[in-house]
Amino acid sequence: MAHILGLSCRSHDAAIAAVRDEELVFASHCERYSRRKNDPALAPAALSAALAHLDRVDDVVYYERPVLKRTRQLRSGQLGLAADPVGLRAYLRRFPQLRRARLHVVDHHHSHAAGGYYTSGLTEAAVVVVDGIGEWNTVSLWHGRGDRLDRVATVNYPHSIGLLYSAFTQRTGFKPNEEEYIMMGLAAYGTPDLADLIWHDFVARDDWPHFRLTRSVHRGIADWRPELTDRATLAASAQEVTERLLDGLFAWAAKETGSRNLVYSGGVALNCAYNSRLARTGLFDTIWIMPSPGDAGSSAGSALAHLGRHVRWPGPYLGHDIGREPDIEEALASLVRGEVLAVAHGRAEFGPRALGNRSLLADPRPPTAKRRVNAIKRREPFRPFAPVVLEEHAHAYFDLPVPTSPYMQFVARAHDPEAHLAVCHVDGTSRVQTVNAGQNPFVHQLLRRFYEETGCPMLLNTSLNIKGEPLVNTTEDAIRFGKLHGIRVL
Ligand SMILES: [Fe+2]
Repeated sequence: MAHILGLSCRSHDAAIAAVRDEELVFASHCERYSRRKNDPALAPAALSAALAHLDRVDDVVYYERPVLKRTRQLRSGQLGLAADPVGLRAYLRRFPQLRRARLHVVDHHHSHAAGGYYTSGLTEAAVVVVDGIGEWNTVSLWHGRGDRLDRVATVNYPHSIGLLYSAFTQRTGFKPNEEEYIMMGLAAYGTPDLADLIWHDFVARDDWPHFRLTRSVHRGIADWRPELTDRATLAASAQEVTERLLDGLFAWAAKETGSRNLVYSGGVALNCAYNSRLARTGLFDTIWIMPSPGDAGSSAGSALAHLGRHVRWPGPYLGHDIGREPDIEEALASLVRGEVLAVAHGRAEFGPRALGNRSLLADPRPPTAKRRVNAIKRREPFRPFAPVVLEEHAHAYFDLPVPTSPYMQFVARAHDPEAHLAVCHVDGTSRVQTVNAGQNPFVHQLLRRFYEETGCPMLLNTSLNIKGEPLVNTTEDAIRFGKLHGIRVL
């Protein structure tokens, strides 16, 4: 039986995953242990936590091929910036627990594809990977059949949808490779008036897989039409160009594979606004996006690429275990009194979203709800909060393009946004989390009781973290959060 450790690190947002006897038993971002947001380093405490789930480590699998990556960096003149004087083997020797294991490296896009496909439960699917950049690949199409995962086609650097999106993230005043989701939120405030212009200036070919940009955008586009300064218009236009490109890509992927099932992976799969448009195209009957489709998810992906077989998807609660479950009636009473409720229980979420185990929850209906939660979160006022809703009531409140959305990967138009303004974006959409009893018994039961008491089957749900810090991980983190904000964490 295999005991495999998958590693994604030394770039941004490091993560570790453990596979034991063909089961994914642990996955966490290193930042949750080191307490440094988007920590690129392998955190010793995270490694110890992962190893606690294995008897031994047979194989360590790294999420990209460093030598191949270096050839691209050399070719693009980046090596001066990105060169790491310490090789991978030397880096990993710092961790004595790993010394006896065999070290493997896998293609970066293979790690994304395997992370998606082998957790999907699907035995046949088109597998599409879209990210900024791997070693050379920026887009790849795979065909999964049984446990086989065959690469069909690739697009290479510098032609990259993800890098174009990151360049506009920077051009719009945000941090590239980190704040793409904030630009996506801002896009709802603008109209895509510049989409045709951006397309004209940047897209040379859109016939897949021959997609080409007119120029490399890897070092940003600060020189591009500096007279254009309206951030919301820029954001909306960049979003629209990205969506048009992705529409073409997925139509080609469906035709090329003949598949009605889609596994979608890579950092661009975090763009939940586009994911809904994709679902509405009707190209696919089933869409699976693992909860952490970006590079952190490639920790699990690299381990699964090495395993080469499907595993049972255990759900997104794969991190540190606080144990204990909050008292439902106590939590309910707090919500009914109109308080903001902080909960930290069970295993921490893997992926960028708090899904009820490290969450702030509140009644989404009062006009003051958003202000009250923002007093704690202190984030950009244009960003909306998200609803968690009982699965069986989701379609009564939201025009969801998919049957369920348990990992907040799709946005949906609210039928009556005025009724729960705190969880609606300016364009009347919400990033919905649906929940059933199997996925999260505590949140499901709390929602049922809240519904019985108030007639409202949803709550506002946002991540439990001190501003600028990673999600609360341990009981100690939760206590510190409570002390800082003067609220009790259940
Ligand atoms: Fe990636």
